[in-house]
Amino acid sequence: MASLVLLNSLLAVFFASSTVSAQSCPCGYRDSSGHTWREAIVSTFTQDAGALAAVDADWIIATDHEDQPTGTAAIQYVAANVMEFQDALGLKASAYDGSGSVKSAEIFTQRSDILYGSFRMQAQVPSVPGVVFGFFTYITETQEQDIEFLSSDVDYYQRLHYTNQPGQLQNSDPDPDAAKDVVIPGADLLAVHVQWRTPTNHPSEQSTTIITKNVPTTPSEFVLNVWSNGDANFSKGPPTADAIATVHYVHLYFNSTTLSAATFASACSAAGNVAPCSI
Ligand SMILES: *[C@@H]1O[C@H](CO)[C@@H](O)[C@H](O)[C@H]1NC(C)=O
Ligand SMILES: *[C@@H]1O[C@H](CO)[C@@H](O)[C@H](O)[C@H]1NC(C)=O
Repeated sequence: MASLVLLNSLLAVFFASSTVSAQSCPCGYRDSSGHTWREAIVSTFTQDAGALAAVDADWIIATDHEDQPTGTAAIQYVAANVMEFQDALGLKASAYDGSGSVKSAEIFTQRSDILYGSFRMQAQVPSVPGVVFGFFTYITETQEQDIEFLSSDVDYYQRLHYTNQPGQLQNSDPDPDAAKDVVIPGADLLAVHVQWRTPTNHPSEQSTTIITKNVPTTPSEFVLNVWSNGDANFSKGPPTADAIATVHYVHLYFNSTTLSAATFASACSAAGNVAPCSI
């Protein structure tokens, strides 16, 4: 009956201010909709030790090459495009040099055992047209939930494209049940807050958008990237100048398949059943 679980799962996106909780939390983290998460990855890219130290602690920098059948250029992830930038983390897609691939940036979590969570980011979307800025879970092409910003959108700084892959119907039209756009009014330095979970306790937050189709059911990585492949309909690149996302923080609160509910409960009990940290 695994398919029932899949149909009953959902990914909700909403927007809320978030507090930093890097302290020890043996009884986990409680979010504003009352969900408890057992583990956390808190990456503060504005820290004194530098953004790249926060990357090294929990993330892997991608260096792979991805051919793009629908694009005019391939994607080449390069380590140098993951960089210190404006006292935060810069993820850069370089101005296209005509070489056949766009130098792009991607980091993904060292862990690939994340199964459900509450994910937050504060970032500035690249303003140079022609790139995609992604914040998403991934393990395969059909176990993937995307939050993407397209710098070619007129309102690129506040429009979020939210897709549970596959986001297209058989005839390649967008699937309205698996892909939705969300506009965050007035956003500049954007705070995004996404939940991947099962649908008990509908969140009370305003501006909630929920997709229940194609919700991934497999433990996954979490990924951030900035890329372009020059396709006419999506990235609309390649960019003619460097396009940089500036990421201040990423907070991932989640359950994993590695730390079971039972092991977590014992550790919480051993710590005196202290209150979960509020997030
Ligand atoms: C872009 O979308 C249009 C309309 O759906 C389609 O006809 C065209 O083939 C697409 N172009 C590319 C490069 O994917
Ligand atoms: C996450 O773990 C907590 C603590 O074990 C549990 O109460 C909660 O139901 C889990 N959430 C999901 C979505 O599985």
